[in-house]
Amino acid sequence: MKILINGGAGYIGSHTTVELYNAGHTPIIVDNFSNSERWIIDRIEQITDKRPAVYEGDCTDTNFMNEVFTKEKDIEGVIHFTAFKAVGESVEKPIPYYKNNINSLLTVLEVMQNYNVQNIVFSSSATVYGEPDTNPLTEISPRKEAINPYGNTKLIAEDILKDLATSGANIKTIPLRYFNPIGAHESHLIGELPSGVPSNLVPYITQTAAGLRDELTIFGDDYNTPDGTCLRDFIHVVDLAKAHIATLEYLDKQTAPFFDVFNVGTGNGTSVMELINTFEKVNNVKVKYVIGPRRTGDVESCWADTKKINDTMNWKSEKSISEAMKDSWKWQKTL
Ligand code: UFG
Repeated sequence: MKILINGGAGYIGSHTTVELYNAGHTPIIVDNFSNSERWIIDRIEQITDKRPAVYEGDCTDTNFMNEVFTKEKDIEGVIHFTAFKAVGESVEKPIPYYKNNINSLLTVLEVMQNYNVQNIVFSSSATVYGEPDTNPLTEISPRKEAINPYGNTKLIAEDILKDLATSGANIKTIPLRYFNPIGAHESHLIGELPSGVPSNLVPYITQTAAGLRDELTIFGDDYNTPDGTCLRDFIHVVDLAKAHIATLEYLDKQTAPFFDVFNVGTGNGTSVMELINTFEKVNNVKVKYVIGPRRTGDVESCWADTKKINDTMNWKSEKSISEAMKDSWKWQKTL
């Protein structure tokens, strides 16, 4: 299938582009490179021996998106990664978050309708579950009111997609609720490229180990968890990328209108401390850390029940936390 990947030069987008090629599909990238690098496209080519067509522009620009769909006549599906994703920044600057994350989706949906393109996979997040009442989280676990604009954009986007399908539109859509993506491609040619000081755990660990940061602060060790640090479902980014291909192939077999949601995780909760210990052990390197206060807005524990995606799409995560920590470190050392 010819698949448009909006945000295809980003962390999850670039890994998904590689996996689309591996599965025999043809990815076409749209990216404005506001939070990604042009050389990532060269790296995709190095890995796959294929160079995706790249359209540089903004998904919120209707004329530009119409041009892309006109030039690439036979697009069969869209994976929409385009979004700002820094939780803290979204609290400080809500307008660009709503504008970019919501308008880009609305524009893409409108243009898809103009061109009769039915399939769209959307990047949602486990953030829609807020503070879970119980773990693991299933897709019918209640969504909670968002505590930051970033999270709210994910809730609103899921609702837009659901409402569109309910309206009877010629659309087939699946928001994937990602848990915590980590790791890098085994070639170590692509990986996560945080801008500025990382807010996510793994880039902070790798930058500290590399001497770029003095020390890592663990945000709280007084949670009601086995070692007192938060529990998360850390999933290797290559496994997550493969879930998108399984989702597209599944969507393609459905009849419009169609809407459903799926969790994408490993099904295991791993603590922040366990992840740091694993990083140190598998890479034989020390990470200097201190225990600090809890970070506002963090949930205590959050991990996925993955039965729905395992059974429906015959997809499951394959890579371990240890592999992910080795890949993240090898990638960091190339930077
Ligand atoms: N953490 C630290 N120190 C750091 C960074 C993080 O202790 O320097 C801890 C956090 O407190 C948390 C865990 O590591 O307990 C994971 O934090 P991340 O920031 O890496 O990830 P989050 O679980 O907060 O957020 C992720 C995604 C969001 C998404 C959210 C909810 O980054 O996009 O999951 O699913 F919304």
